[in-house]
Amino acid sequence: MDRRNFIQKATLAGSLTSILPSLNATPQKKNLDKVRLGFIGVGLRGRSHIEQALFSQDVEINAICDIDPSSINITLDQIKKAGKKAPVVYNKGDEDFLNLVKRDDLDGILIATPWQWHVPMALAAMKAGKYAAVEVSATVTLQESWDLVDTFEKTGSNCMILENVCYRRDVMAILKMVREGMFGEMTYAHCGYQHDLRGIKFNDGKGNGVGVEFGEKGYSEAKWRTQHSVDRNGDIYPTHGLGPVAHWMDINRGNCFTSLTSTSTKSRGLHKYIVDHGGKDHPNAKVNFKLGDIVTTVIQCYNGENIVIIHDTNSPRPYSLGFRAQGTEGIWMNDGNTIYIEGVSPKAHTAEPAGPILEKNDHPLWKKHAKSAENAGHGGIDYFVFRGFVESIKRKTAPPIDVYDAAVWSAISPLSEMSIARGSSPVEIPDFTRGKWKTNKRIFGLNEDY
Ligand SMILES: NC(=O)c1ccc[n+]([C@@H]2O[C@H](COP(=O)([O-])OP(=O)(O)OC[C@H]3O[C@@H](n4cnc5c(N)ncnc54)[C@H](O)[C@@H]3O)[C@@H](O)[C@H]2O)c1
Repeated sequence: MDRRNFIQKATLAGSLTSILPSLNATPQKKNLDKVRLGFIGVGLRGRSHIEQALFSQDVEINAICDIDPSSINITLDQIKKAGKKAPVVYNKGDEDFLNLVKRDDLDGILIATPWQWHVPMALAAMKAGKYAAVEVSATVTLQESWDLVDTFEKTGSNCMILENVCYRRDVMAILKMVREGMFGEMTYAHCGYQHDLRGIKFNDGKGNGVGVEFGEKGYSEAKWRTQHSVDRNGDIYPTHGLGPVAHWMDINRGNCFTSLTSTSTKSRGLHKYIVDHGGKDHPNAKVNFKLGDIVTTVIQCYNGENIVIIHDTNSPRPYSLGFRAQGTEGIWMNDGNTIYIEGVSPKAHTAEPAGPILEKNDHPLWKKHAKSAENAGHGGIDYFVFRGFVESIKRKTAPPIDVYDAAVWSAISPLSEMSIARGSSPVEIPDFTRGKWKTNKRIFGLNEDY
């Protein structure tokens, strides 16, 4: 394929994709005009979802729940400033969310709490007949992944994992190109969460970036996230990288993960940060962190592809999710944003800037909504993930990222811990679809609607 044909193929395929009918929509059912939401957990992330809700004319915020009075107060202020009516507040302790889910003026419940609360809250919401949306990672243990799937199958209530990175403009353009065969047959992908979180795992209890406290004395994620680095060694945050790659590889829809191995480096970064910023006599300098600085996981897929995921949150480094998409005919590399397509790229063995090709292959969803997304968090992706949840509730249909995705993407964490504990032995990845992956059809990125 020469360069011109390649670009023509891309453009033609792009226009065909954009006129495909909305496959998820079921026209015989009347769509809801308004979606009534409850929010559990209105810390930093919950409030960014509240922001999206306040921008949306078709969303009502009817109830919020949090155990922290300051989270509640900041959120009430945020809602008041937007000129919207005050929601009912649930703030009477860890289990008050059980009262929120019972309300009959809620269609959906968005959960943005510490990881260990995601599943108990999602199960309660689903059992109460509500659409659940749960932040990443969805689950902490394998049993929790099964509980999500079993509860969905028993109740019919949907659960969407709010993996916003699936909507990144570049990874969606790559998704379109992968589906159109521009990389040939996919063989390999590389991804990860490479984000220096040291100034978030430790702070002074008031804001991020200063201090070396965590736990009760910490602020926001330092209150709860850091303890996972004390107790666990594995890829404890896999879904930002894995979500987009799972779509490229058709996981749960014609393909599945079969096994993984994980290997970790020694743990140095967190201890060094405490000593450098709090002194060697600070009580936290005695804490033993289990989490290796860099954890590398290799997943084997049923159709023969390999996926490498890197978890790196304890080291000084620039932010990168490190995506790479490799097929039999070419490669895209996120770091440096370069691409090489054999027979198409102008110079053999030489990558070219990917920007112009990604632009030509802009996904129809981005083409249509770029303007609306422009001010939303994380470069616009927070707009899309929130709309995905709201639009599926309005259409009374399954979300574009479903409970089986939530279950298997999140299960990589406990499985990687298991592999490391067994000296990097291979560990089987359960099939949460119970065989349905063989016939399931794609659900993500099918149209320009949501
Ligand atoms: N997708 C993304 O880009 C992204 C970004 C940041 C965080 N996250 C995820 O969002 C979630 C929340 O993270 P965050 O940064 O907002 O943390 P945070 O600590 O700022 O907020 C968590 C909130 O949950 C509340 N909470 C704790 N236990 C509760 C309970 N039993 N009932 C009600 N409320 C409770 C806390 O008081 C707090 O206000 C995490 O799962 C995190 O991984 C995702």
